[in-house]
Amino acid sequence: MIELIHLEKKYDLAAPLKDVNTVISRGDIISVIGPSGTGKSTLLRCINLLEKPTGGQILLDGEEITAPKYNPTKARSRMGMVFQSFNLFNHLTVIENLIIPS
Ligand SMILES: Nc1ncnc2c1ncn2[C@@H]1O[C@H](COP(=O)(O)OP(=O)(O)OP(=O)(O)O)[C@@H](O)[C@H]1O
Ligand SMILES: [Mg+2]
Repeated sequence: MIELIHLEKKYDLAAPLKDVNTVISRGDIISVIGPSGTGKSTLLRCINLLEKPTGGQILLDGEEITAPKYNPTKARSRMGMVFQSFNLFNHLTVIENLIIPS
């Protein structure tokens, strides 16, 4: 289960995540939709700790992965991410692209 609690991410010129709250349970299949530049990729990068949120908390099965001493590798070992515009293998299917990094 992933819980987002008052999640916030601000850059110098943009604040794409403002008080994001949600619970994603095991087995859920969800889509994050919205116009370009509204923070979809930022949200995913925060969840796998490629970006450090500027506020709020992220819990993975009840453990706060945004805690200062948390080891990001632990959370990332349970997450896969296909980047938006590069690093995809043309000769593989979508599911094969998802599986190969794990
Ligand atoms: N590393 C960064 N430094 C500064 N600003 C950033 C950074 N990454 C994203 N932003 C800004 O944050 C906002 C959200 O960007 P993000 O890439 O998350 O949007 P998106 O919803 O994924 O858009 P798209 O549909 O085009 O993929 C934009 O205004 C973007 O310019
Ligand atoms: Mg994006």
